[in-house]
This record gives sequence, C-alpha cells and structure tokens, in this order.
Amino acid sequence: MLTVALPKGRIAEETLEIFASIFGEEFKFDDRKLILETKDFKFLLVRNQDVATYVYHQAADIGVVGLDTLEEQGLDVIRLLDLKRGICKVAIGMRKGEKLDLNKPELKVATKMVNITKKYFAERAVAVDIIKLYGSIELAPLVGLADMIVDIVETGATMKQNGLEVVEEIMTSSTYLIANKNSYFEKKSEVLDIFEKISEVIDKAQ
Ligand code: PRP
Repeated sequence: MLTVALPKGRIAEETLEIFASIFGEEFKFDDRKLILETKDFKFLLVRNQDVATYVYHQAADIGVVGLDTLEEQGLDVIRLLDLKRGICKVAIGMRKGEKLDLNKPELKVATKMVNITKKYFAERAVAVDIIKLYGSIELAPLVGLADMIVDIVETGATMKQNGLEVVEEIMTSSTYLIANKNSYFEKKSEVLDIFEKISEVIDKAQ
C-alpha cells in the first residue's frame, strides 16, 4: 500500500487520470472527503504547499508537486520524475518599459517565493528588500509597494493585464513525482513499479 499526497485542484485531477489510465479503474474522491482508499493506494488531498511536508514526514510515501514549490521549500525528498505537466516559469516582472538595474540601491521585491528570490539575488551579490505576499503579487509594483515581483508566469495574462512584463526568467517549473527517502527504500518495489508505469504514460504523451 502506497500513500500518495496530491495537491487539491487540477494537478490532483490530472494525476488521478494518469492512475485511472494505468489501472483501468476510476479514482475519485467523494464530495469533501480528503482520503481516497483503494486496494493498492491511499490518496490524500492536501494543499499544494503541504505536499512535500506530508512526504518529508512520511505521512505520504509519494506525492505530486511543482518544482517551484520544491525549490522554495527545500525539503529533503527524492525527485523521482518530471511529469512534464503544469509547466510555468518563475520570473521577475516589472512595469512595462522599466529595466532591471541590479546596481540600484534598495531594490524592493514583492513575492510569495521568498527563498527562490533570496537565492537569486544573493548569487548576484545584490542586496534586496523582500516583501512577502500571499497572492495577487502583480498588484505590488502598481501601487508602489515594490519595484518588481518574483512570481509564477503561466500564460502571461496576469502580468500583461496589469501592465507588467517579464524582465528575467529565474527557472522553469513543472510537476514532479516525489518520494520520501525511507519509503523509497522500505517500499522500493512498489515505488519503482508506479514510477515505471507513470513514466510510460508520460513518455507516450510526448
Ligand atoms: C498565479 C501566479 C500569477 C498567475 C500567473 O497566481 O501567482 O498571479 O497565476 O498565471 P498567468 O501567467 O497564466 O496569468 P494564482 O492563480 O496561484 O493566484 P495568487 O498568486 O493570487 O494566489
């Protein structure tokens, strides 16, 4: 039996579809239930930012989560497989026409991805004032809260509609299958079996 942590929403649905196509049966959570038990799997429905936490503490053996979230949280889990879904960028955005000048003193950066932002600017030896927000990041430069943002860009529509544009891409992200380190050894055959089956589905979709 493998416990699988899935992030509520589209990624959980897509992942359950992958499981359905592998095993030829439907995997569906009842209404508001957060656990779905089948013969071989126990699926947990958690918040995206909590997937790696469940896996790190071995409350789940494996999980599915975006690389951006993994990089931000830095928890020690095994990155088993790139599912090549949920592709997006983590990028620096500024008001249209503005240029990124790393020599400017006291740059203010609004983001929900504090660690990725810290690392990016530290590697360039640039001191920045990071303002942590929890959402609607694109608003910050429009009202003078920050000079720039570090945020997820998928279609680019949110930035565009708010008069912002990407001035620098920090990383590309996609959804990953992750595993707890102990589970990987204790349940190696089960973990590798599902890894191989999911790999096949991903490769076929390419
Ligand atoms: C994410 C991200 C951007 C938007 C990017 O926000 O923070 O705001 O999606 O997508 P786009 O490039 O396709 O427009 P989310 O919907 O998670 O909301 P929040 O950041 O406000 O919580």
